[in-house]
Amino acid sequence: MKRWWLPLLWIGAAHGAVTRDVDLQLAERDYQQHCQQCHGVNRIGGTGPALLPQSLSRIKPAEVRQVIENGRPASQMAAFGTVLEPARIDALALYLQRPLAVEPTWNEDDIRQSHRLLADVARLPDTPQHKADPLNLFVVVEAGDHHIDVVDGDRFEVLARFASHFAVHGGPKFSPDGRFVYLASRDGWISLYDLHNLKLIAEVRAGLNTRNLAVSKDGRWVLVGNYLPGNLTVLDARDLSLVKTLPTVGRDGQASRVSAVYTAPPRNSFIVALKDVKEVWELSTGPSPDFVPRRIETEDDLDDFSFSPDYRQLLATSRKAQGGQVIDLDSGRVVTDIALPGMPHLGSGTYWKRDGHWVFATPNISKGLISVIDFNTWKVIKQIPTLGPGFFLRSHVNSRYAWTDVFFGPDNDAIHLIDKQTLEIAHTLRPMPGKTAAHVEFTRDGRYLLLSIWATDGALIVYDSNTLQEIKRLPMNKPSGKYNVGNKIEFAEGTSH
Ligand code: HEC
Repeated sequence: MKRWWLPLLWIGAAHGAVTRDVDLQLAERDYQQHCQQCHGVNRIGGTGPALLPQSLSRIKPAEVRQVIENGRPASQMAAFGTVLEPARIDALALYLQRPLAVEPTWNEDDIRQSHRLLADVARLPDTPQHKADPLNLFVVVEAGDHHIDVVDGDRFEVLARFASHFAVHGGPKFSPDGRFVYLASRDGWISLYDLHNLKLIAEVRAGLNTRNLAVSKDGRWVLVGNYLPGNLTVLDARDLSLVKTLPTVGRDGQASRVSAVYTAPPRNSFIVALKDVKEVWELSTGPSPDFVPRRIETEDDLDDFSFSPDYRQLLATSRKAQGGQVIDLDSGRVVTDIALPGMPHLGSGTYWKRDGHWVFATPNISKGLISVIDFNTWKVIKQIPTLGPGFFLRSHVNSRYAWTDVFFGPDNDAIHLIDKQTLEIAHTLRPMPGKTAAHVEFTRDGRYLLLSIWATDGALIVYDSNTLQEIKRLPMNKPSGKYNVGNKIEFAEGTSH
């Protein structure tokens, strides 16, 4: 192989496409021989994760190559650097970034066949089988080795730790009583976990590439939004059995991926953000729902969402508005555009009360700015400069500060505390110099908060939210999001929804 490969690549430079086909064919054979047993026929995943362009967008192309060459420590992913020559690894890395000739399918039968019941809820005690306050538990995603920790929010101790599916994505959601947590993985696996009994109950693969899930206000339904195939999957929240799938096709017949799904408790509905058509869908979740969408036509492709506190209005990023657009969910009309030049990350924004009325604050992806908007007038009242673009912004009704990270750039180890009344940065912390600090979540009473150090040898750091003293440090492997049961089920001010 070595002998003919090198000249072939060299010719490739001159003959472009033709030779490329040849190396991709070889890569495909290499895939079948060395990778398929774990990553699945058609790269849709198996014991290893899916290797489709949609799945690999979570890491950089250079990392894809690096993983093939060197493997991933403490996982089944072995190093192929000693088995395959560099050029063949290059070709494999390229091949994995290509869409399949025929888009893989995942239909209702596939979903039903993937469904597994792991415990019978009817036979389990329906009271907490641990000593912690069930409404002050945290569910923490350890992205480094794909585990979930259940943390006691009073003692700050790990009560349970279990393996999740690969790359949990989009934020876990809870049943209305806080007993059950629902997790979605990038590869479409949905898991149901019982926080009273610290046990996995069921799992199902709802799609091949999934964005997130939402749980209805009454706790009966789980809605899953997928990129691949572009559709919605409705599951029975009790055991994750399939109710139905809904293809997301616009009025004009164009198929769309789903950007995200949300639950809107005061409206008793799900709201669905579509990626490729100019529509927002609302699915009623009242008694015996038919899951037929109410289509709200929009003026622009909308990407990233947030809601007003009463869920009457939707805030969405819009390129046309060069920032955000406010849409009234009842009339479907655009209320106003809000110019926000830094590409707002509205899904990470949060609101609080200042001088008796609501303000909304959002980080921006391309600029180190926190934009603060008045909810009455929809005017930008302040642009707070930060050390770099941030990703998350969190607070609590009992906290003086909103905490935001500096996720991108050289100052990613810094955390800013914004005074919610003066709208000035009151403190800048560097919890572990040189390591990315990100994403905080408060305890139910707001007295403490948990902050992530996003590194392989990272940690969860507990702070007193008033004195800003560090209380405790729990070592963890890339802890990403963390979610307080009480704050989530109350849709508390300051946290993500
Ligand atoms: C014995 C099973 C196994 C085999 C064989 C295998 N892999 Fe993997 N692979 C895995 C597992 C498991 C992971 C997830 C590792 C982790 O926890 O990050 C993985 C991860 C990866 C990733 C990173 C995916 C991501 O989203 O982070 C790539 C890329 C990859 N494998 C490519 C390959 C290629 C190419 C081959 C064949 C040359 C191959 N793998 C063979 C099990 C395997």
